[in-house]
Amino acid sequence: MAFWSRCKSIDSHLSHASGRHLKATLRWWHLLMMGVGAIVGTGIYTLTGIGAGLAGPGVLLSFVVCGVISTCAALCYAEMATAIPASGSAYTYTYTVLGEALAWIVGWSLILEYTVSAAAVAVGWSGYFSEFIHTAGIAVPEVLLHGTFAGGWIDIPAVILSAIVTLLLILGTRESALITTVLVLVKLAALLLFVVIAFQGFNLANFHPFLPSGIGAHVDGDGVKRGVLAASALIFFAFYGFDAVSTAAEETKDPQRDLKIGIIGSMALSSSIYMLVALAALGACYYTDLSKAAAPLAHVLNMLNNPLAAQIVSMAAIIALPSVILVVMYGQSRVFYVMARDGLLPRSLAKVSENRGTPVFITAVTGVIVALLSATLRLDNIALLANAGTLFAFIAVAASVLMLRWRAPEHKRTFKVPAPWLVAPLCIVGCSYLFVNGLPATTQIWFLIWNGIGLVLYFAYGARRSALAAPQAAE
Ligand code: ALA
Repeated sequence: MAFWSRCKSIDSHLSHASGRHLKATLRWWHLLMMGVGAIVGTGIYTLTGIGAGLAGPGVLLSFVVCGVISTCAALCYAEMATAIPASGSAYTYTYTVLGEALAWIVGWSLILEYTVSAAAVAVGWSGYFSEFIHTAGIAVPEVLLHGTFAGGWIDIPAVILSAIVTLLLILGTRESALITTVLVLVKLAALLLFVVIAFQGFNLANFHPFLPSGIGAHVDGDGVKRGVLAASALIFFAFYGFDAVSTAAEETKDPQRDLKIGIIGSMALSSSIYMLVALAALGACYYTDLSKAAAPLAHVLNMLNNPLAAQIVSMAAIIALPSVILVVMYGQSRVFYVMARDGLLPRSLAKVSENRGTPVFITAVTGVIVALLSATLRLDNIALLANAGTLFAFIAVAASVLMLRWRAPEHKRTFKVPAPWLVAPLCIVGCSYLFVNGLPATTQIWFLIWNGIGLVLYFAYGARRSALAAPQAAE
């Protein structure tokens, strides 16, 4: 069979799931916390300000656009996760429904999404941490607090954080999920505190002019893409992470029930809080001011003469943003694991530690790459690149939903996308628009280079070593 049309059968995934190699320890509340843990992070804490700079107060509409697209995507993920409850997320769904070659591109894009967004959050965290160091009067050379391409030498805090999170993941999933729950509660409480205080300074005048850069994405005189939809392509970073929940399918006790609660619940909860935070921030602070702040939420609170609340929110960001990296790196190592198990990457990478029940080697490799990226790169550039990988994966999952409905309408799914012929195409069109028109050209080019490298690797290795190409070589 030609490599591009090789599809895994749905049953083969189920047999993987029943002959688990990963320990099944997770319940729906772990997944809900895991989802919120991955969604709420640098996006809302840091990128809200940059987004306001691109779209003005109209960035509120960017939040709505991203909320609609991501909700459609979450519904599609929930259907696919219950139809094919095996690890690997969008990669696995695409492999089952659309074939191996496309699955490789999706898997390779997911590796980009997870690795690069973990690095982006580490850099965002380092920003808050550096502010804290300055406030505490601790003298650390600036060049050790910023990456090589962000005006410094090396971002030491980001590297240290990446190392700590990697160790936690190697220690085991249950421990990591427990820590995630605590961190999620901290950052949600901080956002609610922000909303309550910022609404006290709400001023409608801050919403004029509402759309200083218009709606459509266009390049301005300064060479920057602006407008509500350009801001959407950046703010989109704030909305994903729920997809990492689906990578935990084989470690979930009741995947058919728990996955849909984890995915849809985390998306709904996070989107609702985001709308409140964005409305409160823009109502309390004029957008030009907000866009200049490195830590926009703390800036708003300081402006409202509440330095104590500003410190609490900053401290919560320092304590809790690592939960995003924890979940995202977890997802990355699992996608890598499944691709190796399928033979598209060397199988030795898929080895699971007998004591820990986790893929130790691949987790460590992921950690080293995240540390290297976060040590050197700039936050906005990496966030946009992570968005490119995610948009591509969302398109593939929505297409898989439609294809599976058409090809296997009787197949058991405990969750079905309502109005699938509306929701899935909306997801595909929305993500495609943000990818083509919202992302800067440099991001699109890096994404193509990344996938060019991926395809070379695929033809050099995966296409021939695939478990489906040589069944006798499979585990
Ligand atoms: N959604 C995650 C964040 O905003 C990646 O940090």
